[in-house]
Amino acid sequence: MVKIPETFILGAASSAWQTEGWQGKKEGQDSYLERWYKEERFVWHNGYGPAVATNFMEKFSEDVELMQEVHLTHYRTSINWARFFTDHEQLIVDEDYAAHIDQLIDQLLAAGVEPMLCLEHYELPASLMDAYDGWSSRKVVDLYTRYAEIAFERYGDRVKQWFTFNEPIVIQTRCYLDAIRWPHEQNTKKWMLWNYHKVLASAQAVAVYHEKGYEGRIGCVLNPEMVYARSSSPEDQKAQKMYDLFFNRIFFDPMVKGHYPEELITLCQTYDIYFDPTEEDLETIRTHTVDFLGVNQYYPKRVRAPRYQWHSDTPFHPEMFYETFDLPGKQMNNSRGWEIYPKVMYDMANYLKENYGNIPWLITENGMGRENEEQYMDATGQVQDDYRIQFITEHLYWLLKAVEEGANCEGYMLWAFTDCVSPMNAFKNRYGLVRIELNEERTRSLKKSAAWYRSLIDERWLPFEEKPLIL
Ligand code: BG6
Repeated sequence: MVKIPETFILGAASSAWQTEGWQGKKEGQDSYLERWYKEERFVWHNGYGPAVATNFMEKFSEDVELMQEVHLTHYRTSINWARFFTDHEQLIVDEDYAAHIDQLIDQLLAAGVEPMLCLEHYELPASLMDAYDGWSSRKVVDLYTRYAEIAFERYGDRVKQWFTFNEPIVIQTRCYLDAIRWPHEQNTKKWMLWNYHKVLASAQAVAVYHEKGYEGRIGCVLNPEMVYARSSSPEDQKAQKMYDLFFNRIFFDPMVKGHYPEELITLCQTYDIYFDPTEEDLETIRTHTVDFLGVNQYYPKRVRAPRYQWHSDTPFHPEMFYETFDLPGKQMNNSRGWEIYPKVMYDMANYLKENYGNIPWLITENGMGRENEEQYMDATGQVQDDYRIQFITEHLYWLLKAVEEGANCEGYMLWAFTDCVSPMNAFKNRYGLVRIELNEERTRSLKKSAAWYRSLIDERWLPFEEKPLIL
């Protein structure tokens, strides 16, 4: 048994677009995700997607009741930027949607659940992609900042923990660096520009939040990957350092330390992907660093030195400096294709302690998506998700060990409270403590893990014995 400190948060998370559904959605309120779904529906598992999602717009009160039943104390979701306005440039608030957020916040608070809100979980308005090519434009940085200001004005009295973005690196990495998602435009310079503009947008939102003197704090949810080198050879070590630089420090450094790593700037200049910031904008980034961090952590990243020379016709990609290493014998979540390595929690905690001044942070996402969960239903129809209980247990064990050794981690938020829509995988892999049936009603039922999670929250002891994962 491992003691869970009294103040350690045990919460759960989700996002607007992955739960809401299009009930009440108006013309022109598509987000990037919805545009992608409409353009390439065939890549979404069995055609499911954001259209109905979990029908949270209509069923959120039921979910709040279930949170109460699980004794949940914290819930993170996002405001859907695309739905928050009827005009994203004139910033005309959609009062119907804004009222929904009001009700959600009030019901959560009444149920004893603290809401944590994120301003963007991939919900960039598609209209801003059409007009400005999204984050390619400095103008979108300012429109986002105004949006943040309005959101704080409306909800800042009740919401005390804010996040500027969820995983700000993801969209442009899939779309413009790896070009595996619509609109399939390979453009490494654009990738870097989007990265930079999101750092700047985050700093501007932090500035507004601080200047207006709200009682609360603001940070960003990042998805750093704990990178492990294949070996101790200098070549593999260099591959590890380069991966860390291009995918982790690229957000950590400016957001926490207020400046980009020199090496990154030099590499961007060398490979013609520099983003040419103004002095004034760099000053904003320098001055307005985050109060705390959210860290989404699911799997480790393993690399080795590249074995082949970069093809001269292939545009620059950080992969020039590393190759993914496939560790023989690794444990896998085969439904998701992600390695399971619970010690990643401990190593990430130490990484933050050593490199970022032990800034306050929390795990904002970790969890296990499992395909065909109906096969684990008992005679009463309840999903017996022992694999999830074991996954959470092992990850929490390593996290709590780090906390005991001085890591500044304040909590663990499970992904997700209910099953929800994944980008592309839709409802293939289920993540929730609460099962969602894909019938018209989107019926909810508690899985075995829900009662188990409640016992952690109540008793504050983690039952832990080392045994292989049940797969
Ligand atoms: C996180 C995202 O990276 O991973 C979530 O913030 C996402 O939006 C979660 O759903 C799980 O990944 P996936 O692709 O299986 O849904």
